[in-house]
Amino acid sequence: MFKIVEFSHLIIKEYINNSNLSFIRCLDATCGMGNDTIYLANLLKEKGHVDSYDIQEIAINITKEKLNNLNIKNVTLYHKSHEYIDASLYDLAIFNLGYLPNTDKSITTKKETTMIAIEKLVSEINNNPNLLIIICLYPGHTEGKLESDFIDNYAINLSSKKYLVTKYLNYNRPTSPYIITISKTKL
Ligand SMILES: C[S@@+](CC[C@H](N)C(=O)[O-])C[C@H]1O[C@@H](n2cnc3c(N)ncnc32)[C@H](O)[C@@H]1O
Repeated sequence: MFKIVEFSHLIIKEYINNSNLSFIRCLDATCGMGNDTIYLANLLKEKGHVDSYDIQEIAINITKEKLNNLNIKNVTLYHKSHEYIDASLYDLAIFNLGYLPNTDKSITTKKETTMIAIEKLVSEINNNPNLLIIICLYPGHTEGKLESDFIDNYAINLSSKKYLVTKYLNYNRPTSPYIITISKTKL
């Protein structure tokens, strides 16, 4: 079966290929090494744009260089926390939470700021029925476990009348990464 990141990319591909939107506005809430941003930008081409946020300058610089080398133009990078997003700007949002691999693990996403961004997007689902939120969670480290538990508890309590909430996980590996998606309930 699919690894978590691969599965999140499958969801993205399905969304983009089946969308009726003439232009798709995407958010990568955690730019990191730019892999998700580049995946989105390449799929979208002229059909959309990616805004990509990270609090670490190194992540922004690495991604900027990759984008230049690949001649990708449909991305804007923000050296900023995702808590400051304008959620009304997006149709698709991905949060690949945690820390940048092979760097300081203490610089990781935190439940307080992650939740500000997720809550902003969830309230926007009422205005934008196309909005899909994809969250990749990493409960295998201390801060990640706190964050995952918090987001899990939030997501499971969202009204099923308004929201469709799904979870994809390795059932027999409780600490491995998993995905939650939040979108509008289809009546
Ligand atoms: C697992 S990495 C993201 C991987 C990335 N999406 C990729 O494809 O390479 C998590 C990233 O989140 C960033 N981050 C942590 N807190 C953040 C915040 N409040 N706002 C935006 N980015 C944040 C970290 O600096 C790190 O680069």
